[in-house]
Amino acid sequence: AKQESVLLRPLGTAAAPGQELVCVFGTGDMGRSLGLRLLQSGYAVVYGSRRPHSCGPLPQGAQATGHEEAARSAALVFICVHREHYDFLETLAPQLKKKVLVDVSNNLKKNLYPEANAEYLQRLIPGAHVVKAFNTLSAWALQNGPSDANRQVYLCGNSDEGKQAVAEVATKLGFTVLDKGSLSAARELEDFPLQLFPEWRMPLRVAVGLTASFFFYLLIRDIIYAYVDQGKDVSFRIMVSLANKVFPIVSLIMLSLCYVPGVIAAFLQLYRGTKYRRFPDWLDRWMLCRKQLGLVALAFAFLHVLYTLIIPIRYYVRFRLSASTISQIKENRTSVFDTTLAWRADSYYSMGILGFGLFLLLGITSLPSVSNALSWREFSFVQSKLGYLTVFFCTFHTYLYGWDRFLQPYGYKWYTPPAYLLSLVVPSLLIVLKLLLLLPCVNRSLMRIRQGWERNDAE
Ligand code: HEM
Repeated sequence: AKQESVLLRPLGTAAAPGQELVCVFGTGDMGRSLGLRLLQSGYAVVYGSRRPHSCGPLPQGAQATGHEEAARSAALVFICVHREHYDFLETLAPQLKKKVLVDVSNNLKKNLYPEANAEYLQRLIPGAHVVKAFNTLSAWALQNGPSDANRQVYLCGNSDEGKQAVAEVATKLGFTVLDKGSLSAARELEDFPLQLFPEWRMPLRVAVGLTASFFFYLLIRDIIYAYVDQGKDVSFRIMVSLANKVFPIVSLIMLSLCYVPGVIAAFLQLYRGTKYRRFPDWLDRWMLCRKQLGLVALAFAFLHVLYTLIIPIRYYVRFRLSASTISQIKENRTSVFDTTLAWRADSYYSMGILGFGLFLLLGITSLPSVSNALSWREFSFVQSKLGYLTVFFCTFHTYLYGWDRFLQPYGYKWYTPPAYLLSLVVPSLLIVLKLLLLLPCVNRSLMRIRQGWERNDAE
């Protein structure tokens, strides 16, 4: 059948001398954005379409023609068509032979098909060099340019020359290229846009779990106990007092949880006498989400600080203060200044402030743009040394806040320990274990193992 072609520019003059012609199959959002970007970067673009004269507005300067003709005219073809419509490509196998086909497709769900879209395409047209690329960028990101969106283009494929050709185009469009290897990586690339905060899932679950547990624990101890034991309704305390216990407690525990896997890993290496055995999966996964654990903990610490700031303007606090002042006047009493109490209060505030300051620093250095500017030694200095110092300050803040409260029998309502004591378990254990690892004899063994030395009995 004779292919009708609609030329916005005559085909013969499509590519000026030195201008490379690129073909795009598909005139949907992705095809149009890609075409526009290619044109802006100096390529000539020809669209391959079923209905070249009625495929809607195309970027200015592009031409549209039938698939066969378009395929023949360029060495590089972007396939911006849904996988469900790939079968028509099989009929174009002769024209597409030896061409570089760029599969930019995505699916709506994971594991929808037994093989990746790009592998399927390669099977349909075995003679072509199929390269999976650009699928992690949205049409929107392509249009807005790299300054406003993700700069990275992942690609994979079995043909080195094919990948080279696509990498050149991507670089010219202003993206940085990351080669993920052979076409068997296509599935991973296709799943990439479908991920939903994978590394945040565990930290958020931990945060929700701890928050709910401590909320109910404190609800029973602080509100229900007062009601049952003394018939007092202090339910208003849920809003600020309770929140200002739950948030710092969860924050402190989660901050410590960032450092626990490192300590477990060190003890595991000491026990095994080698660094060459894999860590259990759960430990690996735990290590990989430390940054997110820390950032959630920082958010909770921030809430604690905000709640603390409003303590002086709370009605309840002002009421209690004036009531006590009035009763002192009435009863002609004066309270004595307690230096120990002043020291204690100022010290725990100060520790909290120092802890929070360092915590912010940890958060800032975990941002990619900042951490990329640091050397490995600088990064590990901040995240490890200053990280432990943060844990120490925050833990000390809580110990000073508690002071001798754990000795008071009234603190153990219904035989339950005060919540702040529970929050101290993980950080205290962490600090003790870390101190053990810092003992010169232990530290020396660990350093030797980390430099590659193996104990004789290590498997
Ligand atoms: C308790 C202040 C930072 C953990 C408190 C309390 C205050 C306070 C006033 C007592 C609250 C009450 O009476 O209910 C501050 C200030 C900080 C700071 C001014 C920094 C600007 C932190 C940080 C952490 C933390 C960074 C940990 C990550 C705790 C814990 C408690 C506490 C666990 C005990 C909660 C309870 O059971 O009542 N802090 N804090 N604080 N703070 Fe902080």
